[in-house]
Amino acid sequence: MRENQEFRPRILLVSVGMYGQKYLFEATDHDVGGDVVGIVDVADNLEKTFPVISERRIPVYRSLESFFARDRADLAVISSPIHLHTPMVLECLKRGANVLCEKPLCLTEEETLKLADAAKEAHRFLALGWQLNYDRGVLALKKDILSGRFGKPLRLRCVHAMRRGRKYYERSNWAGRITLDGREVFDSPFMNACAHNFQLMTFLLGDTMETAADILKAEGELSRGNPDVENYDIAALRFTARGDVPLLYYTAHPLQTKNLGQMGRAEFEHATLTWGKGQPFLVHTEDDQEIDYGTDGNTPLMQKLYDAVKCTVEGTAPLCGPVAGLAHLRAVRMAQALPVRDIDPAHATYLEEAGDRFVCVSGLEEAFLAASEAWALPGEMGIAL
Ligand SMILES: NC(=O)c1ccc[n+]([C@@H]2O[C@H](COP(=O)([O-])OP(=O)(O)OC[C@H]3O[C@@H](n4cnc5c(N)ncnc54)[C@H](O)[C@@H]3O)[C@@H](O)[C@H]2O)c1
Repeated sequence: MRENQEFRPRILLVSVGMYGQKYLFEATDHDVGGDVVGIVDVADNLEKTFPVISERRIPVYRSLESFFARDRADLAVISSPIHLHTPMVLECLKRGANVLCEKPLCLTEEETLKLADAAKEAHRFLALGWQLNYDRGVLALKKDILSGRFGKPLRLRCVHAMRRGRKYYERSNWAGRITLDGREVFDSPFMNACAHNFQLMTFLLGDTMETAADILKAEGELSRGNPDVENYDIAALRFTARGDVPLLYYTAHPLQTKNLGQMGRAEFEHATLTWGKGQPFLVHTEDDQEIDYGTDGNTPLMQKLYDAVKCTVEGTAPLCGPVAGLAHLRAVRMAQALPVRDIDPAHATYLEEAGDRFVCVSGLEEAFLAASEAWALPGEMGIAL
C-alpha cells in the first residue's frame, strides 16, 4: 500500500470508439480517483466529437509511442479493436503502466499467457474489462458456489441476443470480420457483443475467484443471417465444461427484437440459479430458501475503472486478470471451427429504424426460446431457420 493517500493515478485512455468513450465520459463526468492525462486514437476530429477533450485540455496522440515519448501514465485503459490489444498491452506494461484492457484480451492462449507473464515481469497488473466479474453480487454468488453450498454444477444455459444493423457493422473495419489484414479477428455476437453471459457462466464454475472453468468440447449450429457480414451472426452452441457440465448458449444479431434476454439458468445438485435482464441473480435451494444476490444493475457498469484506479493506488490487482477470459477464448476458437450455414434470404425481412437498417431472421427468437427451454439446439428439435 502506498503511503500517499493523495496519489491520483495518471490515466491514459487508449481508443475512445463505441465503447472506449464510456471510459472517457465516466472519468470526466465523475471523480474516478484518477485523472485522464491523454488519449491515444487514430480517429480524426476527436475534439469535435467529444468537446470535453478540449474543455479539459486532454492531449490526443495518434500512437502510444508519441504519448510515451512525452508523458507517463500509471494506468492505461485499452478499448481498441481486439486484434490490436496484444502489442498495445505489451507497450503500456513496458512503459510502466498498469493496464485495464477491454475484453476479449486477445485471440490465442499463447498470447494470453505471454501477456500475463509480461505483467508479472513488469510488476504491474493486467486487468480485463469483463464487467460482470466486478459485480459485487456475482462475486458473492461465486464465493457461495465455490464453498460447495449448492453442490456440483449440473447444467447451465443462457439466451442473450442483441439486434445490430448497418450502423454497427459500418462503424469500423473489423466489425463482423473473420480476419483483417491477415490477422484473426473472429468478430461475432458470441465473441464480442454478447460474450458477457457466456464468460459469466464459465467464471461461475471456475475453481478459484480468478479463473474460469475449462471448456473441453463444442458442438453447435452457426448461421449467417446478414449477407453483408463475413463471420456467423447467429449461434446456438453447446459446450462441455470440465466435470462434464453442459453449457448452452444462444446468441445472434439479426433479430426483430432489440434485446432478447439475457435469460440464464444454472442447475446445481442442491439449488437452481436464475438471472435475467432486470432480474436478480436468484438462487432457489432444494430446502426452499431463496437467496437474492441482486441485479447486475446494482454494481455500476464502470466499477472496473474504479477498481482499477483503486488497485493502482494500493499496488494491488483486480480479480479479473488475464486468465478470466481463457475459457471464453477457447470456446470462441472451437465455435469458429464449426461450419456456418447461410440463411435463405426468403427467411429474412428488413427493418428500418432511427436511420439504421436491420436484417431480421424470421422465427429466430421463437427458435432460441424453444430450444433453450428444452436444453437443445434448434436443429435437434427439427426447428430450421
Ligand atoms: N465491456 C463491454 O461491454 C464492451 C462493449 C463493447 C465493446 N467492448 C470492447 O471494446 C473494444 C473496442 O470495441 P468498440 O466496439 O469500441 O470498437 P470501435 O471499432 O467502435 O472503436 C475502436 C476505436 O479504436 C480506434 N483505433 C483504431 N486503430 C487504432 C490504433 N492503431 N491506435 C489507437 N486507436 C485505434 C478507432 O479509431 C476507434 O475509436 C473491443 O475489445 C470490444 O470487445 C466491450
